[in-house]
Amino acid sequence: MSETVNLSFSKLSAAPKGVLIVLTDETLAFGPGTQKVLKAADAALTRAFDAERFKGKAFTCVDVLAPAGLQAPRLIVVSTGKTSELKSADWVKLGGIIAGRIPASAEEASILLELPGGPIAAEDAAELALGLRLRSYAFDRYKTRKKDEPARESLDIHLLAGDEAAARKAWAAREAVADGVVLARDLVNEPANVLDPPEFARRVQERLSTVGVEIEVLDEDALARLGMRALLAVGQGSIKESRVVVMRWNGGKKGEAPLAFIGKGVTFDTGGISIKPAAGMEDMKGDMGGAACVTGTLYALAARKAKVNAVGVIGLVENMPDGAAQRPGDIVTSMSGQTIEIINTDAEGRLVLADVLWYANETFKPKLMVDFATLTGAILVALGQEYAGLFSNDDGLAGALFAAGDTSGEKVWRMPLAPAYDKMIDSKFADMKNTGGRFGGSITAAQFLQRYVGETPWAHVDIAGTAMSSPSTDTNRSWGSGWGVRFLNQFVADNHEG
Ligand code: BES
Ligand code: MN
Ligand code: ZN
Repeated sequence: MSETVNLSFSKLSAAPKGVLIVLTDETLAFGPGTQKVLKAADAALTRAFDAERFKGKAFTCVDVLAPAGLQAPRLIVVSTGKTSELKSADWVKLGGIIAGRIPASAEEASILLELPGGPIAAEDAAELALGLRLRSYAFDRYKTRKKDEPARESLDIHLLAGDEAAARKAWAAREAVADGVVLARDLVNEPANVLDPPEFARRVQERLSTVGVEIEVLDEDALARLGMRALLAVGQGSIKESRVVVMRWNGGKKGEAPLAFIGKGVTFDTGGISIKPAAGMEDMKGDMGGAACVTGTLYALAARKAKVNAVGVIGLVENMPDGAAQRPGDIVTSMSGQTIEIINTDAEGRLVLADVLWYANETFKPKLMVDFATLTGAILVALGQEYAGLFSNDDGLAGALFAAGDTSGEKVWRMPLAPAYDKMIDSKFADMKNTGGRFGGSITAAQFLQRYVGETPWAHVDIAGTAMSSPSTDTNRSWGSGWGVRFLNQFVADNHEG
């Protein structure tokens, strides 16, 4: 649940209300529309710039309280630096920085979307608006006591644009993405006593049916009939029932093979009988970040009516220790027929994905598959929280995903797959075992998944470092980042829409 920010677009010539936000660049000049508004405040501004030694470096700001000659209670000048160098992700960042500057007391703000050279492009205005939305998100559903400062009910931000109609139109598509990210963040932040597999499935129904996504929920009987015994084995120690949810968005050519997006949705991962240490275990409520990413992306694609056929398949289970839980040494038969020796019940994500990947490939004959999973702690050791780990059996797909990361700002770094790593998961008793030993933990996990994708172009994105416990950024202050929605939406937009 986020604080409500209401964004509205109007003409650059409209009278600004509330906190006034204007843009400049390295020249410290203003556009003609902005000059008209600032006229009487010129002297105050020059002094403020001097006092702050403001040189217009990119993403720096100057605040002027109660500026003489202006009605606004506060004036905020934000610089884009060398304007020609701004990419779309920079505009999102700029929006985030602006949202972070609007004081908690303000209920209204106006942003003049103009640089010294004139009004900013509609697409850039929309990216800036996306940054405003993403930064303003806060998960405060369970805070019943009011904080010390008087909290505002909502914040109205007026975006004053050169071509307001074009900006509004560009925003409609970006707003779909913003809503998808917010949905993913909400799911990740939600505690596991509230968000269990059936509740997750219910929320998918509730939210995605409103934008025209077809939804099918497979319950435990259906999963047993399909032979998804690897997935069911993970859930068998929990009193919560397991679910697989299939989401279909058909916005592309009729009959064209879909893109398949697969998500790990472990609503809580205790580790099972191979139980995790107590410290930090609460973070494992976020072990469904992959499923949240797929859900948020399907929402975004549908809400912006993307010209693509896409299917999302998420495996929802809870991994608990119990009398009915699976044990180390157990051997389970996956839907593919391949058998798996359980070495460590905490390596459960790959068991879920094995069946869901196989199911998606068999059922939908997709053009390609990309799975998202908070799969290994080892990816945090390798890449930290900046880049997600990318694994792929297809160089073209890997390249396209890398580029989508660069453009969206949700970055991925490619890791290797090779037969020598694959050998590390051969088992004495079954076709494979579910862990590969101490070394290369993220890679052997990916090798395990590769055994379930056949020849289909496939990529695996390990988001254990990026989906949750997220460091503060200009566009995110939430524990759950909603990582991957923007990345995947970018990948689809750049490669698979006509
Ligand atoms: N959900 C965890 C991975 C994880 C760790 C996600 C930290 C987010 C933050 C996964 O199911 C897991 O437990 N992986 C084990 C695998 C091991 C037992 C082979 C791990 O990474 O330690
Ligand atoms: Mn685990
Ligand atoms: Zn897990």
